[in-house]
Amino acid sequence: MSRYLTDFARPSGTLPPRADMSSDAPVLTLDGTWRFHLAPSIAEAPDGFHATDYDDSGWTDLPVPSNWPMHGHGKPAYTNVVYPFPIDPPNVPTENPTGDHRVTFTVPADWSGQRAVIRFDGVDSCGVVWLNGVQLGVTYGSRLPAEFDITAALRPGAENVLAVRVHQWSSGSYLEDQDMWWLPGIFRSVTVRLRPAGGIDDLFLHADYDHTTGTGTLLVDGPEDAVVSVPALGLTGLATGVTHQVGEVRPWSPEDPALYDVLVATDAETVSLRAGFRTVKIVDGILTVNGRRIQIHGVNRHEHHPDTGRVVPLDVVRAELELMKRHHVNAVRTSHYPPDPRVLDLFDELGFWVIDECDLETHGFEFVGWRDNPSDDPRWRDAYLDRISRMIERDKNHPSVILWSLGNEAGTGRNLAAMANWSRDRDPSRPVHYEGDHACEYVDVYSRMYADHAESTLIGRGEDPSGHRRSLPYILCEFAHAMGNGPGGMLEYREIFDRYPRAQGGFIWEWLDHGIRQDGFYAYGGDFGEPLHDGNFVIDGLVFPDRTPSPGLTEFAAVFAPVLIGVHPDKVDVKNTYTYRDLGHVALAWSLGDRSGVVASGTLSLPPVPAGTSAEIPLKDLPLPSGPASETWLTVTATAAKALPGVPAGLVLGAGQAVVHEPAPVVRSTPVPADGLRLGSAVFEPVHGRLVKLGDLELDGPRPHIWRAPTDNDRMDDRGTGSLLRSWKEAGLHRMRERLVAITPSADGLQVESRFAPAGTNVGFTSTVRWTYADDALHATWRLVADERWTLTLPRIGVRLALPGSLTSVSWFGRGPGEAYSDSIQAALVGAWTSTVDDLQTPYVYPQENGHRADVRNLTLRDASGAGLEVLGGPSFGFTARNHTDEDLEEAGRRTRIPARDQVFVNLDLAQRGLGTASCGTGPLPPYILTAGDHVLNFTLRALR
Ligand code: GAL
Repeated sequence: MSRYLTDFARPSGTLPPRADMSSDAPVLTLDGTWRFHLAPSIAEAPDGFHATDYDDSGWTDLPVPSNWPMHGHGKPAYTNVVYPFPIDPPNVPTENPTGDHRVTFTVPADWSGQRAVIRFDGVDSCGVVWLNGVQLGVTYGSRLPAEFDITAALRPGAENVLAVRVHQWSSGSYLEDQDMWWLPGIFRSVTVRLRPAGGIDDLFLHADYDHTTGTGTLLVDGPEDAVVSVPALGLTGLATGVTHQVGEVRPWSPEDPALYDVLVATDAETVSLRAGFRTVKIVDGILTVNGRRIQIHGVNRHEHHPDTGRVVPLDVVRAELELMKRHHVNAVRTSHYPPDPRVLDLFDELGFWVIDECDLETHGFEFVGWRDNPSDDPRWRDAYLDRISRMIERDKNHPSVILWSLGNEAGTGRNLAAMANWSRDRDPSRPVHYEGDHACEYVDVYSRMYADHAESTLIGRGEDPSGHRRSLPYILCEFAHAMGNGPGGMLEYREIFDRYPRAQGGFIWEWLDHGIRQDGFYAYGGDFGEPLHDGNFVIDGLVFPDRTPSPGLTEFAAVFAPVLIGVHPDKVDVKNTYTYRDLGHVALAWSLGDRSGVVASGTLSLPPVPAGTSAEIPLKDLPLPSGPASETWLTVTATAAKALPGVPAGLVLGAGQAVVHEPAPVVRSTPVPADGLRLGSAVFEPVHGRLVKLGDLELDGPRPHIWRAPTDNDRMDDRGTGSLLRSWKEAGLHRMRERLVAITPSADGLQVESRFAPAGTNVGFTSTVRWTYADDALHATWRLVADERWTLTLPRIGVRLALPGSLTSVSWFGRGPGEAYSDSIQAALVGAWTSTVDDLQTPYVYPQENGHRADVRNLTLRDASGAGLEVLGGPSFGFTARNHTDEDLEEAGRRTRIPARDQVFVNLDLAQRGLGTASCGTGPLPPYILTAGDHVLNFTLRALR
C-alpha cells in the first residue's frame, strides 16, 4: 500500500516541471482551512479517507499552508547532521507521522472541457494526492513544486474533494537532511489552475547585457505562436525563439535592480515576466556580471518563522529582505533549498545576487563513512535529476539567480555530476555551484565553508595546491558562523575579499536564529523532548527569531559598508566600493563630539567618485578644540541622500572616525593619607580588603574577574570539540578563590595584595590594587600578574563591582551605542551614549556573555535621584553592567531562567577575548586572543550625589 515511500524519492504522476509565471489564466487558491487528522503510522491512518463521502467530522481544522507540529499536532524536532531515524535507505521507520488532509472546492462550470492542473508549492516530505477519489500521484522533493493534471477528475461547477496524505518520513527524507527543524506538512500554497488550450505552459526568458555597448538582447523560448512585447522599450510583436537586439537598456544588478515587464501572449493566454538584463561570465577565473568582478556580501537564508515554522508570510519576507538591504547584504544563498517561489520575485525587485540551491542534503551519511550515500548510487539518480530540473525550470527566469547550486553537504558522486551536466545543458548562462565537490570536478566555482583567514588568503593569492581550482573564482558559501554572540573576524575577511580579486566574498552562516516561540523564551533542539538533537546549534543567525537585528548584523553593516571612510585631522578618504554605482546619491557629513555629545557638525561636498575609485577631501576650518577641552572625535558619515530600492534616504552607507584632540593629562592634588581602612571618603573592609563605601554609596569590590559566561564560540571552540572551555574549566577559571595577603595603609594611599587562584592547582595570579584618594575621587592601579607557569589564554581580565540595584541609568563616553568586542567593533563609534542597565543586555536566545561596551573613557551609573557612581578610565576600559552575575548567565540555558538580583554587577575590563566563530570555523585571530601575563588597569571612582 505504501511502496511509494521507498521508491528512491521518485515522484509519480506529476507533470513536467515548468517556470513559475503569472498569467491571466484563472487560478484558484486552496490556501485556507482544511480538515486534518494525524496518525502515528500509516497503518493507523484511516482507510478510505480520500473517498468523497468520507466523514471527516471527527477531524480537526488545520490551516494550509502549515507545518502541522506548529499547530499542536506532534512536535518539531531539530537535528543538524544526524538522521533522526536509522540509516536504512530507502526504508523509513514504521512510526511515521501521517497527516491526512481534506478540503473541498469548486471551480466555475465553464472550466468544463478545459485542461486544469493542481500545483503544490511544497509538501514535506511526501504526499499522495487524490481528487474526487481518483489518485493523481505522489509528490517528493519537499521544497519543490509538484503539479498534477486534474482534467479527468475535476467536476467543474460542483463540489470537488481533494485529499492529501502526507508522510513525515519517506525515502525523500534521506535527501533532505538539512540542518533545521524537521517539520512535515503542506507548507506552501496549493492552487488549481486552468490551462487554456493554446496557452503558455512554459517560457525561458534570456535577457543578456553587453557591457561594451550598453545594449541588451532578449530571447524568449516558448510557443511559436506567442508574441513578445516589452512596453518600456517600445517593443511589440516580437517572435519567440529569436534573439532580439533591444538597444540601450539599464542593466540589472543589486545596486540598481532595473526590471522590464515582458508580456508574452497567445490568443489564449498572456503571461507576464520581468526581465533584468545581465550577463554572468567567468573570465580568467573571476566571476563577473555585466563585465565587472562582483563581490558577494551575502547571507545564508533559511525559511523559518518562530510561530509557523517553514511557513513565512510574504510581508515578513519582504520586511526581512528590506532589513538585509539596509544592512548592505547584497547576496543570498537559498540555503539549502529553493525558497517559496514568491521570494525570488522579491530578490529580483529589491536586488540580490542569488545562489539558488537545490533541495538536497545527505549529510547524515557522513556518520557511516558515506557508505550507501545516495549521491553515488544509481538507484537515486532519477531523484537527483528530478530535483535539479524542478528547481531550474521553476526559477530560470529570475535575473537575481546567478548561480545554480546542486545542494549542500551531500558528499560527492556521479549523481551530483549528472545534475551539474543537466544544469549546464539546460542553462549554460549560469555557472554551477556545489561546495561538496572539493576537487571541483563538476562545478564552476571553488566554494568552501569556514575556510579561515589564512587559508582564504592563500587561495586568494593563487597558492592553492590544486592547479584546476586556482583557475576558478573562490566563494565562501558559508563563513563567519553567527551563533550567539558573534561573529568576530568579519573585517579581516572583507580585507581579503578587497585584496585578492579571486576571493569574491561569501555568505555569513546564517541570517536567522531558528527559535520556536514558547511562553517567554525561544525553544531550540531538545526542548520538545527529542531523544536525538543538536541543542542550540540552530540558533546561529544575524537576526533573532523575531527578525530583530542582533549586534552581528550591525557589525556586518559596518564591515560591508559600500562607502569606506578614512578620517584624518586634515582630510577624509572616501572609497566607493560599489561595483557599478557612483556616489551621486551620497551625502557626506562631519561631526565633532566629546564627553558632552556632539559639539559641532556640518556637511562636506563630495566630488564625483566612480565605482571602485577613491577621493580625498581636504578638511578645512573645522572648529577643532584646543587647550583643556575634553577628548574630541571627528566622525564622518556617508548617508543616502535619496532613496534607492530597499535603501531609504538617510541610511548610513559608511562611517569613519579619528580622535582630533587629546586633552593634557590631569595633574592631581597631593593624595590624602590612609586612616586605617579609610581613605578619604572610601571605606575598606578588613577580611578581603574590598571597598565597601565611597561617600554615601555602598558597594562591594573590586574583585579580580577573569571569567565570562561562555559564548557559543567559547563553548564549542575548535569546530565543536569544546576544547577551549574544557581547558578553562579544568584550570578552574570559573571558580577562582582569593586569599588576602596584605592591606598596607600608607601616607599616600592604601595597597591591597591578594593571591588569586583556582582550587586544586598551584598556579594562579597575584592581584595588587594601589589606591590613592585625591580631588574627591578614588584612584586605582590594579595589577594582575600571572605565575610564570600559567599557560592558558583568558576569557577576560578585569574587576567586578557590586552596586545597589537602584542604579539603573547608564551613560558613557566610549564606543557605542551597541555592544562591541575586540574583533567585532566596527559598528561601535566613540561618542556620548546613554542607556539603562536593562537595555544594555543583548537577548541572545542561549544566554551568554553580552552587552560589553568597549573603549570607554568614562561611565556613570545613577539612580532616579541622580546619585551613583562615576568611573573614569586611565585611559579607557570596557564594561558590562547587569542585574545578574556572569555565573547566573552561564547557568541559565534560556532567558527565562536568568535571575534578577537587586544589585548591579559592573565588570570593568582591561580586555576580553575576541569572539571569533569557533562554534563552526575559526577562533579569534591572534591579536584578539588574551594571554595572561602582567596587566595593569587604571581607573578612578567618584561617588555622585
Ligand atoms: C554547515 C552546514 C549548515 C550549518 C552550518 C553550521 O556545515 O552547511 O547547514 O549546519 O554548517 O551551523
